Amino acid sequence: MATSGFKDTLSPYNQPKQIPPYQDYLYKQYETDVSLDLSKKDCEKPIGVAIFGLGRAGSIHLSNLVKNPRVQLLYVVDDIPSKWHKMKAYWGLKSTMFLTSKDAAKVYSDVKVDAVVVASPTFTHEDIVTKSLAAKKSVFCEKPIAEDIESSTRCYKQAEMVNKPLFSAFNRRFDPSYSALRDRVRAGEVGHVQMIKVCSRDSPLPSIDYLKMSGGIFHDCIVHDIDMATWVIGELPTKVQTTAFSHIPEIKAINDFDTVAILLTFPSGTIAMLDNSRHSNYGYDQRLEVFGSKGMIRADNERPVHCNEVQLGYSGSSFAPIWFSFPSRYRMAYYLEMEHFLDVVRGYAKPMVQGFQTIAVSKIATAAEKSARTGMTVELKWTEEERNRKYS
Ligand SMILES: NC(=O)c1ccc[n+]([C@@H]2O[C@H](COP(=O)([O-])OP(=O)(O)OC[C@H]3O[C@@H](n4cnc5c(N)ncnc54)[C@H](O)[C@@H]3O)[C@@H](O)[C@H]2O)c1
Repeated sequence: MATSGFKDTLSPYNQPKQIPPYQDYLYKQYETDVSLDLSKKDCEKPIGVAIFGLGRAGSIHLSNLVKNPRVQLLYVVDDIPSKWHKMKAYWGLKSTMFLTSKDAAKVYSDVKVDAVVVASPTFTHEDIVTKSLAAKKSVFCEKPIAEDIESSTRCYKQAEMVNKPLFSAFNRRFDPSYSALRDRVRAGEVGHVQMIKVCSRDSPLPSIDYLKMSGGIFHDCIVHDIDMATWVIGELPTKVQTTAFSHIPEIKAINDFDTVAILLTFPSGTIAMLDNSRHSNYGYDQRLEVFGSKGMIRADNERPVHCNEVQLGYSGSSFAPIWFSFPSRYRMAYYLEMEHFLDVVRGYAKPMVQGFQTIAVSKIATAAEKSARTGMTVELKWTEEERNRKYS
């Protein structure tokens, strides 16, 4: 045989044990499960948790909390009591107390509550965050932390004062593809980054009721894109240029935009291009690309059925559609993000999303919106302290 010379002389049983690639995060989890590693399991006392808001984001976090043996879900606070009966039955919440927000004081005064998860509408965040922190609870808060920079800053100051974590849920940082891309960029694989492109097009179109209280596309959606750009390259931009348009009349009527392009210029010469839309009719389009002096790394869209390629007739190849929306595309990120927060609560980890970073992201989003509304380039100034803080 032409290839018999390539045959291994040693049997695979006599060769070094195969090591799974580090990218296989599911196998890593399996190994942890098989090894019955108890070091982070907090067997003696579960973490007492209360969750505020059981809409889109809240249901995702609830699904992770109820399956987590480290957690005892003590309270659900939501203002639609008609949903409670089904919620309890669906998730098997026999011993969880359900409250409306007017009775939230019960949560704050209960010493068994170690941590509060905030997934209610953005305008309610500041009140829940500050009351939870005042009661010495650790806080996981959906982005944005509050409606504006001043109120977010107040929340972080309070967290510092009471020495409790305030974690902002930038879930994309926990996505295995994006974090692997960032690790490789930070290891210098593409050299100095010349261009980073973040594409984020939402699906399905959110309801107008949601959009009216969302805080607008810049603070509701684009904060994620800005966070990706700054987190990957570890630098703050000094110039912002935005063009935005509303193709959808109902979005125009509420003085918001549905299509936005942003250019960020960084002091080291890196340029970020952010491409954001409220409505993509082919699925939740999420891509990230980094181009540098030594090469390019790209994270493409993921697909639920990713290993099927179809060829029929002469119409070329087709693949399964991309994920429909954020709960499916970032399912693993939401899970890992909550695991990380529970590690933070227990003191096993420092928050991966830091206060100064979310404030910086808010400042950039505000500048981007100003640029869109005025048609002007907006210069951003950072203090020496802000520039020097490690953007890790
Ligand atoms: N990170 C992400 O991927 C992501 C995705 C979606 C939403 N979000 C964020 O999550 C938050 C909620 O958004 P959503 O889309 O889930 O909204 P939603 O409208 O679907 O749900 C909000 C829920 O909060 C409840 N609620 C209202 N006031 C409350 C209060 N004072 N206390 C407790 N519950 C209250 C409502 O009854 C509703 O069930 C927003 O801040 C949004 O920016 C983040």
